Amino acid sequence: MNPAAVVTGLGTTAPETVVTNEMVARGLDTSDEWIRTRTGIRERRVVTSGTATSDLAVDAGRNALKSAGLDEVGALVLATTTPDHPCPATAPTVAYGLGLGEIPAFDVSAVCSGFLYGLASGAGLIAAGVADTVLVVAAEAFTTIIDPTDRNTAPIFGDGAGAVVLRAGKTSEAGALLGLDLHSNGSMAELIMTPAGGSRQRSSGRVAEPHEHFMGMQGRTVFVNAVMKMEQSSRTALAATGWETGDVDWLIGHQANARILSAVAERLEIPAERAYINLDRYGNTAGASIPLALGGAADEGLLTAGHRVLLTAFGGGATWGAVTLRWPEIVPVV
Ligand code: ACO
Repeated sequence: MNPAAVVTGLGTTAPETVVTNEMVARGLDTSDEWIRTRTGIRERRVVTSGTATSDLAVDAGRNALKSAGLDEVGALVLATTTPDHPCPATAPTVAYGLGLGEIPAFDVSAVCSGFLYGLASGAGLIAAGVADTVLVVAAEAFTTIIDPTDRNTAPIFGDGAGAVVLRAGKTSEAGALLGLDLHSNGSMAELIMTPAGGSRQRSSGRVAEPHEHFMGMQGRTVFVNAVMKMEQSSRTALAATGWETGDVDWLIGHQANARILSAVAERLEIPAERAYINLDRYGNTAGASIPLALGGAADEGLLTAGHRVLLTAFGGGATWGAVTLRWPEIVPVV
């Protein structure tokens, strides 16, 4: 039987600069009150000039390796929407920055579901015998693709990174990834899109307008689909694990909007207090939000060894998914 992938370390990081709702709202037709009541966000962390995704990824990766008590791994997977450059991938830069040698390293692009896709990719590398240990990092300098004058997106996003170390082990061990359910639907690609910078715009022979380098989002449609798909995928992952929704100790969902997380919890009949939320402090950090939430929940002493955890996300692509695991005995470095 193929080895299971077992979480054996967790690290996170966030830029020091805090931007409050009042600061975002300046010059925009919005308010602290609207942002708080419609999203649950109070403030977010943002990168300052000169900091790129790989810088956040190296910090989070170093913390995860420390948490795992390791100084080397067999492979690195980086989930990001904001690579340092369109070419090449950012993962080799991160592996180099961490001094990990000439290990396999590649990017995964699944926007807000990126961490879940990264976990599945890491588990696949372990099952295929490519590596016994894999560093899975999700890092986003997301505000670098946000138009500060667009009230549909500017209040929502923030920057940060989180990482876990996976090792080969058994499904009976705490930390083993149990149910993994992933999906996509490209007919929803335009719901969350940065129009310029890719082959479609470049091959049209047209120079992109500056605003086309920013991400646009059709929030209301994303909201409706996010609730529906996260519920469906959670049910599939739970069924594959042999758990009922009532068995879940912590629902750690993608931190997009507090109302989305409450609606998913309600549909799954998971009490609201078991749906962890830290988006009030970080905003929507896209792929990085789930590991940042895991780090927050563990650091606050809420998430402890043995807890049954359900992770779920919906994001650009559209992509979505869910993963279950029993929380391992680890000390996160946050
Ligand atoms: N301030 C004030 N008013 C606003 C703002 C704002 N910042 N943004 C929108 N509005 C207005 C709209 O214009 C609209 O006005 P109208 O009724 O006169 O037309 C009204 O508020 C309601 O707009 P909705 O878009 O329906 O607002 P909603 O309550 O849905 O909240 C939001 C918008 C926060 C974007 C929400 O839809 C949301 O969170 N969507 C999901 C985002 C998400 O899940 N993203 C995950 C994936 S992201 C990724 O993958 C990168």
